[in-house]
Amino acid sequence: MVLSTPAAAGQAFRFMRQSDVRVQQTSPLIQVHNLEKTYRTSRGALTLFTGLELTVNPGELVAIVGQSGTGKSSLLHILGALDAPTAGTVHCASTNVAALNPREAAAFRNREIGYVWQFHYLLPEFSAIENVAMPLMARGIPRRQALDAASNWLKEVDLEDRSEHRPGELSGGEQQRVAFARALVGNPRLLLADEPTGDLDESTAGRVFDLLERLHVTHGLTSVLVTHNLDLAARCTRTLRLEGGRLHSFLPPVRPS
Ligand SMILES: Nc1ncnc2c1ncn2[C@@H]1O[C@H](COP(=O)(O)OP(=O)(O)OP(=O)(O)O)[C@@H](O)[C@H]1O
Ligand SMILES: [Mg+2]
Repeated sequence: MVLSTPAAAGQAFRFMRQSDVRVQQTSPLIQVHNLEKTYRTSRGALTLFTGLELTVNPGELVAIVGQSGTGKSSLLHILGALDAPTAGTVHCASTNVAALNPREAAAFRNREIGYVWQFHYLLPEFSAIENVAMPLMARGIPRRQALDAASNWLKEVDLEDRSEHRPGELSGGEQQRVAFARALVGNPRLLLADEPTGDLDESTAGRVFDLLERLHVTHGLTSVLVTHNLDLAARCTRTLRLEGGRLHSFLPPVRPS
């Protein structure tokens, strides 16, 4: 689905949120079954999840909320093949993630997953456009072609006039918009975002989220977003709360505007 204007994209997103997105898709993009994660530390075992279940369908923008330390980031790491589960199965973008060897996991991450973190992790010595082009160059795409694609993505996030700026010459909101462009330049099937607005003031966070909503629709993304911001969670298609090692349906309270 390609929608040309932000207004059309916003309208389509609202439609998706109101309707049941499950009827619009064929098979889940993420299917997690009986997941367990236990960290073994010098002071003993720390079990974060046992029997955790999660299904995410194409086109969903799922928010995960929960208290600090419940394991939200750990769960995203497992979904994105950055860490292995202790037990259980994780199917993500048609791949049995838990069965990947390190080389396969790196290729899977590069092709299928876009990540955005609370801190942008842009490389300080490279310009915005070079940072965005990086995942494509890592795939072996020629530099000129990668930079052209990066330039298009900087336009998508309304930063074409900042392409030669280094991260230190950008505002916090601009840095996160560059981070979204870098996450999406490789056309991933799944976007994983861990508190992407956690370091921004409320109004900048709202604008970065507007951008996420727009990109979500125009590029047919499927996303899992960890956030402590219940106002932003309320704008997602579905919210889950991580508590006691399991995910529970959760309806974030909507603040009167
Ligand atoms: N590599 C590790 N080894 C041992 N323990 C870990 C490791 N990574 C995380 N933990 C522990 O697991 C728990 C969950 O961590 P995680 O970062 O997933 O929480 P979170 O829900 O994302 O918290 P926050 O909202 O503060 O970001 C924490 O208590 C943390 O100390
Ligand atoms: Mg975290």
